[in-house]
Amino acid sequence: MDFSIKTLDAKTSVTAIKTGVLVVGIFENRKLTSAAQALDKMGAISSALKSGDISGKPGATLLLRGLTGVAAERVLLVGLGNEESPADKSFSSAAQAAARALTTVGAADAVVALPLDKINQRDLNWAICTLVLAARDLEYRADTLKSKKDPAPTGVRKLALAVAAGDAAQARQGLAEAVALSNGMELTKDLGNLPGNVCTPTYLANTARKLAKDYKLGIEVLDRKQLEALKMGSFLSVTNGSDEPPKFIVLKHMGGKAKDAPTVLVGKGITFDTGGISLKPGLGMDEMKYDMCGAASVLGTFRAIAELQLKLNVIGVIPTCENMPSGRATKPGDIVTSMSGQTIEVLNTDAEGRLILCDALTYVERFKPAAVVDIATLTGACIVALGHHNSGLFTRSDDAHDKLAADLLAAGKASGDTAWRMPIEDAYQEQLKSNFADIANIGGQPAGSVTAACFLERFTKKYTWAHLDIAGTAWKSGAAKGATGRPVPLLTTYLLNLARKPARA
Ligand code: BES
Ligand code: MN
Ligand code: ZN
Repeated sequence: MDFSIKTLDAKTSVTAIKTGVLVVGIFENRKLTSAAQALDKMGAISSALKSGDISGKPGATLLLRGLTGVAAERVLLVGLGNEESPADKSFSSAAQAAARALTTVGAADAVVALPLDKINQRDLNWAICTLVLAARDLEYRADTLKSKKDPAPTGVRKLALAVAAGDAAQARQGLAEAVALSNGMELTKDLGNLPGNVCTPTYLANTARKLAKDYKLGIEVLDRKQLEALKMGSFLSVTNGSDEPPKFIVLKHMGGKAKDAPTVLVGKGITFDTGGISLKPGLGMDEMKYDMCGAASVLGTFRAIAELQLKLNVIGVIPTCENMPSGRATKPGDIVTSMSGQTIEVLNTDAEGRLILCDALTYVERFKPAAVVDIATLTGACIVALGHHNSGLFTRSDDAHDKLAADLLAAGKASGDTAWRMPIEDAYQEQLKSNFADIANIGGQPAGSVTAACFLERFTKKYTWAHLDIAGTAWKSGAAKGATGRPVPLLTTYLLNLARKPARA
């Protein structure tokens, strides 16, 4: 879909806008927005309200045609709820309902004339982003591997967002950010939805190479020999059972000043997680193709920030391999030596994410990062704790880490891609004691997502670090099975905010 900003000045009335569909809002209690009032010269809108055809409740829609004195062919009324200042949830429902209604009209273009700058506690750009994401999400298809494609999206191909002339510059920037974000999320969804036999470590590496080529990013892909030379014994132990070669991807977007310390994103890239010798049960195992969604969110975020030419140094690091059983696979009880030198007793080969991440977290020390954020579908226990609403956010708790946590939580709130902070404390570290090695790779049933984070924490002492467990948020199960594109909105917003105020604590 093509998006644009349309400026309205004092002289142009909404009645004069020539378009296939003009989208205007109405409030609860049969109140009209000013745009709806302007279109209501002959009373068609008020009588639709009076007759009960539409309520004004958030998300209600009604299509009217051929209004007298209105240049637009159709008017789509959308309920916004509260008259003074619609709640952000109401506006989200309205945006989704409007976008859905626009997929079935026989028009090629539409103009949205909603009160985008009047949403309670949100700004104009938030409203623009909400509309763009809603429209792009409805357009999304995961049918590259179907011989009969899903029906092509119908309805409008061009969507203009009307704003006051004074807001135009801000709105254009907001629109560019929203479109870049949707492009990034689309890449993340595509990669997540691809099956493990297509989306292999090599496929992820090639996707990163293509991104690097398209946007002139730095790229390096390390292979098994190089990983052996780096002594990544923990990462390599996970690949033992697999015939697919492991890859270690390093992607660099250096849009900031040369001397600025980079922000590093590390994404878990298990392209299929069988559990290894600690084999997972068969039911639903197909969903473990999503175990590379951390990696996919790093690539999606790079796509978004590269498109926006963000003035910030960002490095993406992706350890990627399969977790498979075989005669060569790592066995429970095996002890491996990580790149950091710490030895690890692999009590459960299904706790493999932390084994590949810990070596990546040691590797990134060389970048002297301003901050490191790892993103991983790390634990089922995180889903038990937080469900599918919030990603789990884990950091140590000192001033620098509290600031990083606050910035990430704020980026989540601003983008509607929320996270919830979880503890990292010595008491939990106790659960990772091993009789035979420096550390065990599991900490028992209680607080499984916390002990996983505590494991990673031991490899992050040299910089400020946060861990996002996205097991519950990166994809949906059930009828609407598929990748969500999360946490690309959180990450992209966090980086956009950093680029806006480069002074860091
Ligand atoms: N990839 C899984 C985590 C996961 C499970 C994500 C279910 C989404 C849905 C991870 O590698 C794993 O298997 N974790 C184990 C850890 C356990 C063995 C300590 C888990 O969560 O069961
Ligand atoms: Mn696993
Ligand atoms: Zn896994």
